[in-house]
Amino acid sequence: MKIHYFDHAATTPMHPSVASAMLELMQGPGGNSSSMHALGRAAKHQLNRARDSVSAALGCKPAELLFTSGGTESDNAALIGAARAQRKRGRSHIITSAGEHHAVLQTCEWLAKEEGYSLTVLPLERDGRTSPELVQAAITPETGLISIMHGNNEVGTLQPIEEIGQIAKASGAIFHVDAVQTLSSMKFRLHELPVDLMSFSAHKINGPQGVGALYVANGTLIESIQHGGSQERKRRAGTENIAGIAGFAAAIDICVNERENKQPFMDKLRKRWIELLQTHVEVPIIINGSEHHYLPHIVNISFIGVDTETMLMNLDMEGIAAASGSACTSGALERSHVLRAMDLPQEQIQSAVRFSFGLGNTLEELEDAALKVGTIVRRIRNNY
Ligand SMILES: Cc1ncc(COP(=O)(O)O)c(C=O)c1O
Repeated sequence: MKIHYFDHAATTPMHPSVASAMLELMQGPGGNSSSMHALGRAAKHQLNRARDSVSAALGCKPAELLFTSGGTESDNAALIGAARAQRKRGRSHIITSAGEHHAVLQTCEWLAKEEGYSLTVLPLERDGRTSPELVQAAITPETGLISIMHGNNEVGTLQPIEEIGQIAKASGAIFHVDAVQTLSSMKFRLHELPVDLMSFSAHKINGPQGVGALYVANGTLIESIQHGGSQERKRRAGTENIAGIAGFAAAIDICVNERENKQPFMDKLRKRWIELLQTHVEVPIIINGSEHHYLPHIVNISFIGVDTETMLMNLDMEGIAAASGSACTSGALERSHVLRAMDLPQEQIQSAVRFSFGLGNTLEELEDAALKVGTIVRRIRNNY
C-alpha cells in the first residue's frame, strides 16, 4: 500500500545528506568536546563548525546559540531560566497564550503552580492569532516574561511576533518565541527581530530527532536549569550530541538553500489539497486558522459530522498519516486545546484533522489520497 505521509508537523523524514553527515561522524573515532586531547579537539571543531553554520543561517552570533535536546528542552530552558532570572529583578508575572504548544503552556502552568509565579494565559482570536492589544493590556509592572509562538503547530497560524516583541521590549519583559514549526519555511534574521529567546528543533526540518537549539540574544539573562558541566558557556550542562548537532547544521543548510522553492511548493500542495477535498468529500469542510497568516505546510480541516478519531483511524487504514493536533495529545481522546482556545464551534473541534506536508510529498499523490478521503467519508457516513 502506498503510504501518504501528511504529518510533517509531527516529525519529518531525515534528509539523506543529513544521515550521511551524521553517519560519518558516528563511524569516526568519537571524542568528547571537553577533552584536551586530539580527538576531543576534533569533536570541539565539529561542534564549532555546526554552531557557526546554524547561527549564520539564523542571523545571530555563534555565542548566542545553545544546543539542546529539542524544542521541548529549549522551551523549558528559556521559560524556567528567564522566569527565575526575572524574579530576581522583582518581575514574577508571565504572559502566554492558550494556543501554545504544551512544552510552553505546561511549563508556564508548572512555574505558576510550583514556583508561585503569576500567570496570564491569553485566549486566541477565531483565526488562531494572539492579539497584541490583549498582550499590551495584560502587562503589569511585574511582567518579566512573555512567550508567544511564531507559527502554530496545529492550525499553522502565524503570530504577529514583531508587534508583540515591540510591546514586550517597551515593558522591559523578556520575549520568548517558540519557532519550532516556522524554521522550515521562514527566513530568520534574528538580530532584526525584537526577540530575546527563540526555540528551534532539528527534526521538523529533516534533521535528527532529539536535537534543538535555543537562541539567547546577547545580554539576555537566563539561569541554567541544568548543572554539572560547563558546556554551552555553562548554560546547558552535559556532553554535546556532536553527530546530532552536525546533522542539525546539515539540515539547516539544506533548508536555507531550498527554502525559496520549497515554500511556494508547500503552498501549492496545501491549496491543491483543499481543492481536491472540496471536490471529493461530500460533507462540508472548514479550514481552521488564518486565511492570510499561515504556514504553507500545515492545514487544519474540519469534516463536519465526521468524528476526528474515527477519521484518523480510517485514514491510517488507508495508509494516510495525519494528526488531530500536537503529537503529544493525539494518543489521548482530549480535544485540541488550540481549537478550544480559538473558541470554535464544537462540531468544528470534534471533526478537525491536521494535514502537514514536506519532503517527499507530490502533487500527484494528493489525487490518490483525496479519492481515499472521499471514500472514507462516504463509508463513515453510511456506516459500512
Ligand atoms: C510548536 C512546537 N513547539 C515545541 C515542540 C516540541 O519539540 P520537540 O519535539 O523537538 O521536543 C513541537 C513539536 O511538535 C512544536 O510543534
